[in-house]
Amino acid sequence: MWPLLLLATSLTGDPPQLPPPTRLTAEQDHQRLLKELGIESLRPGANGMDSKAPNYANTDEAKANPYPIPPLMRFKDGREVRTVQDWASRRREIIEDLDREVYGRMPRKTPKVRWEIVSTEHALVGDIPVVNKQLIGHVDNSAYPQLNVDIKCTLTTPANVKSRVPVIIEFGFFFPSRPGARPATEGPTWQQQLLAKGWGYAILDPRSIQADNGAGLTEGIIGLVNKGQPRKVEDWGALKAWGWGASRVLDYLETDKAVDAKRVGIEGLSRYGKAAIVTMAYEPRFAIAFVGSSGQGGVKIWRRNSGETVENVASSGEYHWMAGNYVKYAGPLTPGDLPVDAHMLVALCVPRPVFVGVGSPNVEGIWIDSRGTFMATALASPAYRLLGKKGVKLTVMPREGTPLIEGDLAFSQHHGGHTNGPNWPIFIHFASRYFQ
Ligand code: GCU
Repeated sequence: MWPLLLLATSLTGDPPQLPPPTRLTAEQDHQRLLKELGIESLRPGANGMDSKAPNYANTDEAKANPYPIPPLMRFKDGREVRTVQDWASRRREIIEDLDREVYGRMPRKTPKVRWEIVSTEHALVGDIPVVNKQLIGHVDNSAYPQLNVDIKCTLTTPANVKSRVPVIIEFGFFFPSRPGARPATEGPTWQQQLLAKGWGYAILDPRSIQADNGAGLTEGIIGLVNKGQPRKVEDWGALKAWGWGASRVLDYLETDKAVDAKRVGIEGLSRYGKAAIVTMAYEPRFAIAFVGSSGQGGVKIWRRNSGETVENVASSGEYHWMAGNYVKYAGPLTPGDLPVDAHMLVALCVPRPVFVGVGSPNVEGIWIDSRGTFMATALASPAYRLLGKKGVKLTVMPREGTPLIEGDLAFSQHHGGHTNGPNWPIFIHFASRYFQ
């Protein structure tokens, strides 16, 4: 009799009482992190707004490269990377450094996601008939019911294409309070351009996975896995969490009969450009990436002193994108002490195609460092070549408006501002080589 009774109490027993999520402002959590790392203070970042300010971001190329760039095709012990097997080991070495020092480690086990199709509607986008689906990914929170995470995403596919279609997932920018903030583009929107090609798109709301601020680190998927407690110094930051969410969207797409899940790309601009390259680097199921103006922490040589610096990203306004350990490189260490850099991140995508875009410094400004972006792209090329693919050939940065798209690694600097707009037709042309 008693074993039955025991079973009954364990079935009906209340879940263990876990404390509610810790509430900290970004400033408080940032201070907590510094204390844990034994750091008194950090060096301030560059000023990106006021060109008269004494600490205005550097634009002098002669001063832009204070540190040597660590070689991609050498192991940490100095041996050269010569073979495809070597590359597999080197890749693991890079991932370990990136995980520990830069983006943080994704937990070994993450909760399951159950996708719900909230609605399916027929509509027109421009003059193209489409099927729109509203999707919600319910993240299993049974281990910590105090937090709820529901991933929000829409999927739009052309209604009149009978075969499964390629899909580009965009990390969507949502500016509820700034309706004019989305740059207007002339001609068909990127969505119309994709549909005209017979492809579809999904727009993912990153904030539904993980908030875009430090105060949110005890919520979202990061907070859920930590049961509402603050992060450890090696824990993942928002960029990897957003990438995790994009992988879960891909899980859904694998089950949708309208979609060819072998031809799914990931796209983003700016902070979501950073998210796009991190997603692509870590998730081999993504077939292609479009990384726009990703700047510091994305595809741009991190140790450069040009535009935004490591110190800016380590500050309380942006550190949540990264692992806690990352802030060490803004004091006492320097960006030159980073064991890895952006070209290595790009190289993790080998052999899959990556399109790197930037705008014109005259319109977009100097913050994203277009030259450092080109350098990171070009310096990833040897890994592409080793795997029998084609990187970016030139060592000299091409002129604005002269896209390099012959290889599997593409670079395109458009004449516009902080937008992917003018690069969409060029990206679609590039992607057609893989998606036809
Ligand atoms: C800031 C930030 C950049 C980021 C950008 C954006 O400018 O410093 O790193 O890319 O915001 O996401 O718009």
